Amino acid sequence: MSDKGFSELRLEGVSRSFGSANALKGLDLTISGQEFVALLGPSGCGKSTALNCLAGLMPLTGGSIWIDDKRIDGLPPEQRGFGMVFQNYALFPHMSVRANIAFGLKMHKVAKADITRRVDEALRLVQLTDHASKFPGQLSGGQQQRVAIARAVVLEPPVVLMDEPLSNLDAKLRLEMRMEIRRLHQTLGLTTVYVTHDQEEALSLADRLVVLRDGEVQQIGTPEEVYAQPVNGYVASFMGYRNMLALEITGASGSGVVVEGNGVRLSGTSRDGLASGQAVAAIRPEDFVVGDVTANSIDVTVEIVEYHGRELSVSARLPGGEPVYFRTDKRLAPGDSAKISVPAERVLVFEP
Ligand SMILES: Nc1ncnc2c1ncn2[C@@H]1O[C@H](COP(=O)(O)OP(=O)(O)OP(=O)(O)O)[C@@H](O)[C@H]1O
Ligand SMILES: [Mg+2]
Repeated sequence: MSDKGFSELRLEGVSRSFGSANALKGLDLTISGQEFVALLGPSGCGKSTALNCLAGLMPLTGGSIWIDDKRIDGLPPEQRGFGMVFQNYALFPHMSVRANIAFGLKMHKVAKADITRRVDEALRLVQLTDHASKFPGQLSGGQQQRVAIARAVVLEPPVVLMDEPLSNLDAKLRLEMRMEIRRLHQTLGLTTVYVTHDQEEALSLADRLVVLRDGEVQQIGTPEEVYAQPVNGYVASFMGYRNMLALEITGASGSGVVVEGNGVRLSGTSRDGLASGQAVAAIRPEDFVVGDVTANSIDVTVEIVEYHGRELSVSARLPGGEPVYFRTDKRLAPGDSAKISVPAERVLVFEP
């Protein structure tokens, strides 16, 4: 499977069950050559199962996997030849950084001069040239993870699979490594499937996101699509729509709806065609503006104010007592009354 020039990697109805539990339910996904796709969802939603099925580490219980017109789900992992990076990077502790990276090339009986050249190149890519002769125990967590990534990409695999590779790192290193992975992808253009439960990581890295819930796809789209136009309340709440207000639809015209309840009345946008009855209005804290800016406003009482540098993160109460969250650069204090406004197109109304 040394052919990197494929045009698509296709999952058709890929399913995996454990006894009577279905961890993955008919995943359909077409990944273009050189694309960076993130599988996103909470713990237990089937992300690693999907990745392990792709890698060949776990047989499917249904469906098929294709690279262009070649079916690959019957092939053992080594014949798929995908690069893999896991959360615990499992470097060989008794081998130098250089030897760790060279290991796979040696196994593949690559000529010595080529190994040296390719390892040098990989070291340079992950910026570890100066650490080549150190042992893993002498490196920081981020450096060790970079060795793991270099080890995976040095083989120039047709596909790189990464399962939460940054979750063991501290916040600062995570940001640095995120940039590193993005840069590597820009440089090498390797088709990448990246598993994470961190929406920010997925949004910042991927060309497309696949949001999973209980083994089922909820939405597939670009970061912009999934962020701004989630298809249901589950995706919305997962993508940072922290306010999920339970209200009732009292008017509808086209996709425009009016939702009301407990002293709140808002114009919103129905995202799933819902036009009457109980609904949930999803609003991001950062889409509220303090002040009577539009007719679409709510009266709130400020309860808790957190300082976040340029902005305050405010937790307040609606007239009916339910919590509401917003961000502002206005100086508010606990106990203040305020009016907050939100554009109707940023009030996304879903089935509860
Ligand atoms: N070997 C197994 N035997 C039985 N059940 C399993 C096995 N592996 C996974 N599962 C179950 O399948 C479901 C999906 O697991 P999976 O590891 O794919 O989740 P995940 O999305 O990767 O979660 P996390 O973010 O916690 O890593 C879970 O309910 C899990 O308990
Ligand atoms: Mg997992």
